[in-house]
Amino acid sequence: MNPLNHFAKRARKYNRSSQWVDDKVLIRKICDLAQAGPKASVLDVAIGTGKIAQAFFGRVKYIVGIDICREMSGQAKGCVDKIFLAPAESLPFKSNTFDACVCRQGMQFMEVDAVLSEIFRVLKPGGRLVLCHLTAYGRLDKDETFLIQKLRNPARKNFFLEQDFRRALAKLPFAGIKFFGYITKESVNQWIGNAAIKEEQIKKIKEVYKNASPVFKKLHKIEFRDGDVFDSMKMLIVRARKKGTYD
Ligand SMILES: C[S@@+](CC[C@H](N)C(=O)[O-])C[C@H]1O[C@@H](n2cnc3c(N)ncnc32)[C@H](O)[C@@H]1O
Repeated sequence: MNPLNHFAKRARKYNRSSQWVDDKVLIRKICDLAQAGPKASVLDVAIGTGKIAQAFFGRVKYIVGIDICREMSGQAKGCVDKIFLAPAESLPFKSNTFDACVCRQGMQFMEVDAVLSEIFRVLKPGGRLVLCHLTAYGRLDKDETFLIQKLRNPARKNFFLEQDFRRALAKLPFAGIKFFGYITKESVNQWIGNAAIKEEQIKKIKEVYKNASPVFKKLHKIEFRDGDVFDSMKMLIVRARKKGTYD
């Protein structure tokens, strides 16, 4: 399944499909790292239903979003200045346009190098980039974490550890690269009911949790409770700045 079909199916339930989607603490952290004041122009790459964009809307000069999925981005209307239906790999903006660019949970579906070089191009010198994506805790849980991520969404192309972003960002003149971890406790029953995961995949996901290694269970603080499984997932937030000063 390609990401477009996946998100078209999932759009109606998206806002309730994971705890992190509308986590105000996480959203505030992303906004703070973008350092976007009232005069700032901001781009939300893979805007989805607009949960990040709405935190900037009205507080910055303007915020625009891009996404490939009409069913998702249509829900962002009213909480963003303009929405563009376009792939992140080919941004429909002039170079040096934005003071800040954010992307949460989008790059796993994208050609990472192409998107980063497009983001770099459209950022003004000195402009901030903030990325936020699910990750694994490290080498000990990555196989099980990435297997669950793949079963959850077969459209996923990329699986991220900190070193993957480090390597990709190092190819461009970004400065001030900093990483932050964020833990989000997720109900598996909540996210497997997102309307885009097939019954067969759901069964496999439940099996992976049931048979998970002790180290995975420990790192993810897995709790089996009331017929549900709770997984403390790790998100990786990356902040970087395009080198140079705008004049
Ligand atoms: C998990 S949602 C994240 C939405 C939003 N950023 C959020 O944090 O709630 C992923 C979004 O990425 C979009 N997407 C996937 N591939 C894309 C691409 N190549 N270019 C632009 N958007 C893409 C999907 O349509 C979907 O809306």
